Amino acid sequence: MNDSYIAVLDSGIGGLSVLKELVKSLPEYNYIYLGDNANAPYGNKTVRELKELTAKNIDVLLKFNVKVIVVACNTLSINLLPFIAEYSGLKVFGIFPPVERYVVKGEKVLLLSTVLTAKKFSPSQNLHVLGLKSLVRDLEYNMFNAREINLNFNLSNSVGYYINKKFYYDRIILGCTHYEFIKNEIYDHFCPRKISSGINFTVNNVKNFIIHNKSLVNHNKNKVLFVGESAKANEDFWVFGGQKQ
Ligand code: DGL
Repeated sequence: MNDSYIAVLDSGIGGLSVLKELVKSLPEYNYIYLGDNANAPYGNKTVRELKELTAKNIDVLLKFNVKVIVVACNTLSINLLPFIAEYSGLKVFGIFPPVERYVVKGEKVLLLSTVLTAKKFSPSQNLHVLGLKSLVRDLEYNMFNAREINLNFNLSNSVGYYINKKFYYDRIILGCTHYEFIKNEIYDHFCPRKISSGINFTVNNVKNFIIHNKSLVNHNKNKVLFVGESAKANEDFWVFGGQKQ
């Protein structure tokens, strides 16, 4: 049987934060990672533009024996999940900012996300929503050096209302998978009680599905294949431990 894969899709490096948790939970499976760096950031584009890009990216993934797609991008999940499921014909999982869960408990929540994701949430007394215009771009350029990023500038270069002081928010929700790479700086800036994201929920859903459908994706190689039109240099198999196959 040809190797089959779980595909992980994002606009760039953000989905690596999801891939890392998937590999921890389901280490014996094969993954394909498509980070569309050439077209990042997605959060400042229109849904129509994203639809075209996503169709092309799914075409790339469908060249491989992909059985499941994990959309490791809040922006794509919120806007295009039904389209991705229909276009690919595969089982698809998305990631969503877990906002309601905490707002209903009366917590003061700040959602940090891309501009396109922020548009999907209505702010209220307990929910402030901030769409950051340039943080994904900065993270793509400084992927090994997130400490170089000016968080204050990024917070002000944004759409929405927030309180810029420490200890005000009970919870910050990272509504973009890229922001995981600057989580410590966000924590130091706001000093919330907690920082959350949708990653655990998504990974648990994928895990439950995979263990109930064991024969769907074969699991013997535990390797990651990086693909993508803009990622030709990375079109190689890597086994864990950083060794090329
Ligand atoms: N990682 C994507 C998300 O979770 C970032 C989107 C973008 O490229 O702006 O929303």
